[in-house]
Amino acid sequence: MNHLHFVDGDGSFTLSKPENVSYLYFPLASETGMKSSVTPNLGGDAKLDQETFLLEPVSAENLHNNRSVRNFWLAGPEGEVFSAAGASAGQEAARFTPAQDDSAVTAGLMWHTLERDWKDMGLHTAVTTFCPRRDRVEIMLVCVHNRSDQPRRVTPTAAIPLYGRSADNIRDHRNVTSMLHRIWTGDNGVMVRPTMSFDERGHRPNHKIYYVWGCGPDGQKPEGFYPTVEDFLGEGGTYLHPRAVLEGRPGAAAGCTAEGREAMGAFRFPAVTLAPGQKAEYVLLLGVEDSEADIAAVWEKYGGQEKALDALESTRADWLEKVNVRFATGDADFDCLMRWVCFQPFLRRLFGCSFLPHHDYGRGGRGWRDLWQDCLSLLLMDPGGVGRMIEKNFGGVRIDGTNATIIGDGDGNFIADRNGIARVWMDHALWPQMTVKLYIDQTGDVAILNRQAPYFKDAQAMRGTRIDPEHRPEQGCWQRTAGGEVYAGTILEHLLIQQLAAFYEVGRHNIYRLRGADWNDALDMAAAHGESVAFTCAYAGNLRELAGMIRLLQRSTGAASARILEEALVLLNDQPEVLDQVEAKHRVLEQYAGACSHTISGRQVEVRLEDLAASLEKKASWLTAWLQGHEWIDAGDGQGWYNSYYDDHGRAVEGIFPTGVRMMLTGQVFAIMGGVATDAQVGQITRSADRYLYRREIGGYRLNTDFHELKFDLGRMFGFAYGEKENGAVFSHMAVMYANALYRRGFVQEGWKALKSLADTALDFDTSRIYPGIPEYFRADGRGMYHYLTGAASWYMMTMITQAFGVRGEAGDLLLEPKLTAGQFDEKGRAMVSVTFAGRRLTVCYENPERLDYGSYRIGAAACDGAELCAGSSSSLLISRAMVEALPAAPEHRITVTLC
Ligand code: G1P
Repeated sequence: MNHLHFVDGDGSFTLSKPENVSYLYFPLASETGMKSSVTPNLGGDAKLDQETFLLEPVSAENLHNNRSVRNFWLAGPEGEVFSAAGASAGQEAARFTPAQDDSAVTAGLMWHTLERDWKDMGLHTAVTTFCPRRDRVEIMLVCVHNRSDQPRRVTPTAAIPLYGRSADNIRDHRNVTSMLHRIWTGDNGVMVRPTMSFDERGHRPNHKIYYVWGCGPDGQKPEGFYPTVEDFLGEGGTYLHPRAVLEGRPGAAAGCTAEGREAMGAFRFPAVTLAPGQKAEYVLLLGVEDSEADIAAVWEKYGGQEKALDALESTRADWLEKVNVRFATGDADFDCLMRWVCFQPFLRRLFGCSFLPHHDYGRGGRGWRDLWQDCLSLLLMDPGGVGRMIEKNFGGVRIDGTNATIIGDGDGNFIADRNGIARVWMDHALWPQMTVKLYIDQTGDVAILNRQAPYFKDAQAMRGTRIDPEHRPEQGCWQRTAGGEVYAGTILEHLLIQQLAAFYEVGRHNIYRLRGADWNDALDMAAAHGESVAFTCAYAGNLRELAGMIRLLQRSTGAASARILEEALVLLNDQPEVLDQVEAKHRVLEQYAGACSHTISGRQVEVRLEDLAASLEKKASWLTAWLQGHEWIDAGDGQGWYNSYYDDHGRAVEGIFPTGVRMMLTGQVFAIMGGVATDAQVGQITRSADRYLYRREIGGYRLNTDFHELKFDLGRMFGFAYGEKENGAVFSHMAVMYANALYRRGFVQEGWKALKSLADTALDFDTSRIYPGIPEYFRADGRGMYHYLTGAASWYMMTMITQAFGVRGEAGDLLLEPKLTAGQFDEKGRAMVSVTFAGRRLTVCYENPERLDYGSYRIGAAACDGAELCAGSSSSLLISRAMVEALPAAPEHRITVTLC
């Protein structure tokens, strides 16, 4: 098997014969909308959005066929041909034989180079692909190098099929939409402008031009064009066997046109003779613009070898700087892996959850929980502006505590559910609060709780169970008062309404209802009677933390009270007869949501912060006791765990069944994180998880055991083969949250085991078969799936920084509380992390000369840039924000902490 290895300290890696590994793809994107994926044969696709695909959309299964690759052909004088992409019939036929080309992919953050050797000719090709940050273009730099001792004469041809339309037309009207194409060539390349965007609900005129332009050495222009697929392939030709190249057809002149055909960005350059050692360089630009003048402007910026090389260098440098978290531990490969993990949150922001080959669903954009979790990593890497983003995102909360589920481009742009299908994911209220908590801790800006935001309004009322008959689209998307004013409440009020309205929406077992699903999207078939114990535990933790934030607000601002919407007062009810009784809870919820189903009073009342905090704590305690009393499964032998769900028949899902043990990780994660599981129970849970869920060789903790049942009364996940996605895969996001929860509770070795197992498998290329990074999940045979776009990356990075290294904000101050294990220190006993905090670049270096393990060391001394911070012995060190802010504006400061 070919091995992947790192080639520098920034995570750049190389892999030989990459085309012999299936399903590999690499992401490239600009910050202005270009989103590409590129495979070892330069397949993959490129698009701006669902409607605007430059290259034909691909799913994972299209990656094997090398149909629409970004090809670059070389033809020799005797009719021999070679594809720099490795995508020719001859090269395909030679795969896995000794005649196979030598090839390698080398890639780093946002750039990808494919090298190949044309052995017979002694020619070497290198194709580097990247997207400059601020344009909607993908650039290919092709270098042909004569490494033989003979002069070599070749004719190069660029050949990139231009799809130029909506992804919806990949099958629906594929042929009809090609009839819309108007194709023409200019001096530098091929352009296609479809006459309209085809949409039977209403066709729209189209102005976008899709193009491939190119030039050769010294700005040399193409000499012959093949602007349609048919021109290029010839009758009976194929993409791997195109007659234009094989037969040396001259092509049409610049200025030719075609219409009603599939477009092809294909053109050939004049033949070139390369002396031994000589190179010829070609630049190709692939993009989408609104006019030919705009294309010319992009060409002006990048259309030449030097310009493209400059752009490559600055793109590389910019991304290395943007991903500004660095780790240096005892394991250099792990540190390199972390460069990619810290890069992944950027990818998720650029790609959303769609648009890479495995992510062949959705139409762009991000879901609610993803939106909030992506803020976590932003807070650690690029915190400026996150506060504003958070405020805007709160505008997506409805007054009944549910939220908009369609999120448009740009912050605070929420779209009403058009087709009236209401789905409420019961976990949604959880994530905004987690983000606000981290925000307050990292920035100290507790006053964000007092800032105002509107509430989202659409036709959904009563937590998505009814339609508001009085709602009209022209009333807009903001909640109004009876007087017609747009209502705004504080962020604190939003949080309270989210947490408290959810508290009363319980099922038969007095556990929060599952509704449409929770974090696990695939638990989508128990909307009537399903209950999520897992997230009830999580909400218990949230209620407690919200109380903590309120007390902090009280302490730091001196405020004694807050104003909240009058109707919301009922939600503060904490009478025992309400807490214990399902029907009583429903009455409270009906009363509140009923009063808010169309307009609200807009009146606010003053509530003491102390009373608010006490009410939340009372509810949290009640939940904790209830969960401990009803949901713990004692499996004997020092093992036990929490039941995570009730199915649509109201039956507990976990336990010891005739078909075997049924255990799910989700319930354990939140029982631990939410403080529901006692310390003794955490020990029992970890023992059970190790016994029933852990498989080291495929990434560690699986999401569940095999239920051997379809369970139509719980969700589609049980229809998946066991080990795939939400049915028992090692689902990285949940495994990382498990680690995070364990660290928080002081179970450090156990937490590190969960993180390390994921990292080890990701880095074990023979098993994971993915480029470095953390995939959404590892399936039953260990292959990494749905690579790159996963919330797991944000959580992994956050857990490493704030828990393992213990470098985190506490109400704005900087806390250092290392929870590193002995093996995480290098041979000199050092472990370092570089982060941004309070506007300063800080490298925190833990020195542990004796390589003591967690639990046996304490902080003995600490210094910042050589000046003593403390001496003595403690498990953590708090450095005031003022002190960090007072550090001079040097590029970096070093905090050295000695452990002994
Ligand atoms: C994905 C989704 C996430 C969902 C999860 C489980 O996770 O993006 O919203 O909660 O599946 O169904 P991710 O790939 O982000 O880890």
